[in-house]
Amino acid sequence: MSKGRILSGMRPTGRLHIGHLSVLENWRRLQKEYQCHFMVADWHAITTKIEETESIRSNVRELVIDWLSVGIDPEESVVFVQSQVKEHAELHLLFSMITPIGWLERCPTYKDQVQQLGEQGKDINTYGFLGYPVLQAADILVYKADTVPVGEDQIPHVELTREIGRRFNFLYQTKIFPEPKTLLAEVSLLPGVDGRKMSKSYNNEIAISATTEEIQSRVNAMITDPARVRKTDPGNPEVCVVYTYQKLYNPGETAEIAEGCRTAQIGCVACKKKLTAVIDGFLSPFREKRQQLLANPGQVDEILATGAEKARKVAQATLAEVREAVKI
Ligand code: TRP
Ligand code: SF4
Repeated sequence: MSKGRILSGMRPTGRLHIGHLSVLENWRRLQKEYQCHFMVADWHAITTKIEETESIRSNVRELVIDWLSVGIDPEESVVFVQSQVKEHAELHLLFSMITPIGWLERCPTYKDQVQQLGEQGKDINTYGFLGYPVLQAADILVYKADTVPVGEDQIPHVELTREIGRRFNFLYQTKIFPEPKTLLAEVSLLPGVDGRKMSKSYNNEIAISATTEEIQSRVNAMITDPARVRKTDPGNPEVCVVYTYQKLYNPGETAEIAEGCRTAQIGCVACKKKLTAVIDGFLSPFREKRQQLLANPGQVDEILATGAEKARKVAQATLAEVREAVKI
C-alpha cells in the first residue's frame, strides 16, 4: 500500500519557541508513516505583512533551520518554500475562479483577523488576504494531500479546502482532488514566562534556539508563587510557572521540588537554577544541530532547492491534470 500524503506549513514569522515543539515532534513522527511535505508559507506571510517584507527572507531561513534542528529530515520529507513552486500560484488562480466570495467572507479566521489587525491599525482589507484560504487550498491540493496536520485554528481552512476541491471536481466532472482530513496536533499548554499564553508578541517565550544565557534570563523572569515573599515562607507550587515547567522538563524531580517548596526547604533561586539546567540540556542537541547548519549555509540552500524540485514534480503533474479538466 502506498503511503498517505501529508502537507503542512507554517508562516515564517520569526524564531519558533518551545511551545511549538509538540507540533514539530508530531511532524517528526509522521515522517515515518506518510510521505510528508513541509512548506514555508512565505506568500501567506505577505498577506498580513505587505509593508514589512524585508524580514521574510531571513525568517524563511530561520524557520527551516528550526525545523531541521529538531529532526525534520529532508531525506525523508520534502522541505520547501512555497514561492519556489509557482504551481501553487496557478492553482490558486484557478481556484479563485470557482470560490464564492461568501465562503471567504464567512470564514471565521477572516473575520477575526480583520478585526484584530484593524484594532492594531493594520488594514488588511485586500483581495489577497480574503483569498488566504484559497491559497492554502492550493497548497494542500496541489499535492493531493489526504492529511493535514495543523492546530485547531486552521480547521476552517481545511474545511474550505475540501469544499473548494469538491466544487472543482463537480464543476469539471473529475476526481482529481481528494478530501483531505485534519489531523489535530495536541496543543501545548505551556504558558509563557509571565503566565500568559506563550507568544513572541508578548515577549514571554523561550526560543528553541535560545542560548544558555537567554534561557537563564527567561527562567529568572518566570512568575513564582506571589505569596512566597521570603525563602522561609512555604510556597504553593501549583500557582507557580516554574513548577509548570518542572513538571514537563524535570519529571524525575518534581515530587521532591513540590515538597521542598511547600516546606520551604528549597528556595526559588535554586529551583530556577535547576530548571535552567534541564531546559538547557534539553535544547542543547537542537542548538548543536543548528550550529552545524549555520556553519554550512550552502547546505540549507541545497536542501531547499532539492525540496522545491521534488515538490514541483508532484505539483506539475497535478496541474497537467487540472488544465486538462478545465480544458485550458
Ligand atoms: N495558514 C497556516 C498557518 O498560519 C499556514 C499554512 C499555509 C498551511 N498553507 C498551509 C498549513 C497548508 C497547512 C497546510 O499556520
Ligand atoms: Fe515556584 Fe520553585 Fe519557588 Fe516553589 S520553589 S514557588 S515551585 S520557583
